[in-house]
Amino acid sequence: MIDYKILVAEAYKAQKMAYIPYSNWAVGAALLTKEGKIYRGCNIESSTFSPTNCAERTAFFKAVSEGERDFVAIAIVGNDVNTPIGQGDYCSPCGVCRQVMTEFCQEDFKIILAKDYDIYQVYTLGQLMPLASLPLKNQ
Ligand code: THU
Repeated sequence: MIDYKILVAEAYKAQKMAYIPYSNWAVGAALLTKEGKIYRGCNIESSTFSPTNCAERTAFFKAVSEGERDFVAIAIVGNDVNTPIGQGDYCSPCGVCRQVMTEFCQEDFKIILAKDYDIYQVYTLGQLMPLASLPLKNQ
């Protein structure tokens, strides 16, 4: 049984580390492995824009680079730095992050979008990334 509230709290911890001098949009993610380990990630921006990395991919790349391959859930929070927790909206993962999730996760992987510590919605990757493209994966 996944404790979504713990994962959301970890995402809020991660959000505090966001490096966001250009957008002021702070995102935090907490990625849970099958073994129960949590990897946190924040967004990291660049003055040349395209190197910017989303919080979700930071979490995945930290975990994968440590040898993790089995994931069960990710919690995501995101808001303008001037918006107090609880007064913003859900922050849904971008298409690039969904593709990265698709690389490592099955359709039942849980994506938890939170707008407060105890206000969240739970989706599956299958819901947020239908008909995913993985042309080279199982050839
Ligand atoms: N961002 C994320 O980190 N994750 C999302 O799900 C949406 C967007 C970041 C990228 C950029 O630093 C800022 O939020 C504004 O788009």
